[in-house]
Amino acid sequence: MKFRNKSPLDIIIDRDSSVPIYLQIVQRIRDLINSGALLPGFRLPPERRLAEALGVNRSTVFQAYRELKTDALVGAHVGRGTVVVHRASPESELGEVRKLSWGQLVREGRTRQPDPLLRDLLQLTERQDVISLAIGLPDPELLPLEAFREIQEKLFEDVGAQVMLHCPTEGHTPLRETLSEWMAMRAIHCDASEVLVLSGSQQGLDLAARLFLDPGDTVIVEEPSYFGALQVFRAAQARLIGVPTDSNGMCTDVLARILERYRPKLIYTLPTYQNPSGAVMSLERRHHLLELAYRHHIPIIEDDPYSELRYDGEPIPPLKALDDHGYVLYLSTFSKILFPGLRIGWLVAPRPVINQFVLVKQAVDLHSNTPGQWIMDRFMRDGRYEPHINSARNVYARRRDMMEEALIRHQIPDFTWRKPTGGFYFWCRLPDDVERSQLLTQAAEAGVSFLPGWPCFAFGTDESHVRLNFSYASPEQISEGVARLMAVVQRATFEPPLARRAQIGTSPIV
Ligand SMILES: Cc1ncc(COP(=O)(O)O)c(C=O)c1O
Repeated sequence: MKFRNKSPLDIIIDRDSSVPIYLQIVQRIRDLINSGALLPGFRLPPERRLAEALGVNRSTVFQAYRELKTDALVGAHVGRGTVVVHRASPESELGEVRKLSWGQLVREGRTRQPDPLLRDLLQLTERQDVISLAIGLPDPELLPLEAFREIQEKLFEDVGAQVMLHCPTEGHTPLRETLSEWMAMRAIHCDASEVLVLSGSQQGLDLAARLFLDPGDTVIVEEPSYFGALQVFRAAQARLIGVPTDSNGMCTDVLARILERYRPKLIYTLPTYQNPSGAVMSLERRHHLLELAYRHHIPIIEDDPYSELRYDGEPIPPLKALDDHGYVLYLSTFSKILFPGLRIGWLVAPRPVINQFVLVKQAVDLHSNTPGQWIMDRFMRDGRYEPHINSARNVYARRRDMMEEALIRHQIPDFTWRKPTGGFYFWCRLPDDVERSQLLTQAAEAGVSFLPGWPCFAFGTDESHVRLNFSYASPEQISEGVARLMAVVQRATFEPPLARRAQIGTSPIV
């Protein structure tokens, strides 16, 4: 016999069972409450109605309801009948539940942080009183918000909901085509099928680590290098080997000697307007690097977010453009020129490698954000990208010059820097006798932030540099920020360290 009444109360009585009928009713209702099928507030049928429906005595139902009341699963209310009051929690049957030790569950090495001091430079930059020379972001004031709004509205009108639905893991097909054409501007000739749209180029680094790295594998990185990449490789438990750089980029003669002793799985390089050093790898070294990769059979990840931000000199072709043998996996992004929150980057790689990346990416996020890809594609097809780059380039070139003027104006002995010919950063060397450990805290107190150089080294041992960004702050802030920083550095040369440390939380450092 079943009680069904368009309600979740679904009871079957087994008259052949040795379990008394009232207990069968109790058990069933308890199960329904525990599973969440009957929620608090659900009104059980009056005893008489349920008894009739089940073909049992009213006293049987009365006994069942009484049992449920004793278990505090239901309550009787005058005028409301018998109501579910409580979803029995497993706790009540299990006794005391032990606290989960999340720290022990996390895989070894996944979330290792080199120092809590680094955790929240971004939060620091959100403080109105702190001028940010720390993070590597475009100036939001320069971004073409109005153009994006227009395109988005038009897309909603013309295309409708499709703009917000799934798209292929490889990326929105028209955007892949547009990007493959755009790559020709960087002397990279590729087909749309060799382009994979990523959720930021950071995802390309992560996917590469997932695809290629086993714990203990060796990865060659420049020193200094992009902090976010080192983090990815460390999380994959790779062994990092740093190759020094100078103003011509990675010292490939040192790399040649390293490759005689080690068999790395990957070489990671930022040949153009390096983050953090601003260095540009010479053409000669680019050829040498490729030659070494071919000879030792090692793929190269070329990370190129900044090459379009060139302020002086002639462009040098990316490694990918010089690579005749499909060794280079080329990463780039819109984050430095357009909205970083779009999270759109891309990979150019041989088709079989793209297919491998696609399989891993599918498991990670199915595909990158669809509306952003549609908007970016329209923005580029409408011919708005190039003029935007040109105007951003002019503005940032002036800010770079302003930063240099400010550095000269407030110069202190032995504080040296390399003037970048593109990108976002000055890489500065601190005087030897500066007390570094509290510098970031002291700078924050003085109202300016910067990126300390040491996280950009494989073992975080070099504390002699700081990275200063000139794209994010306004021209006035750049002058003031440099003045504040120089005063702090000057004081730190003489003052003993403070025993305090800034309160810093968690955000990405780029
Ligand atoms: C060298 C380098 N690679 C990758 C990234 C990550 O960029 P995206 O926002 O595209 O993930 C950054 C951002 O700062 C970067 O500087």
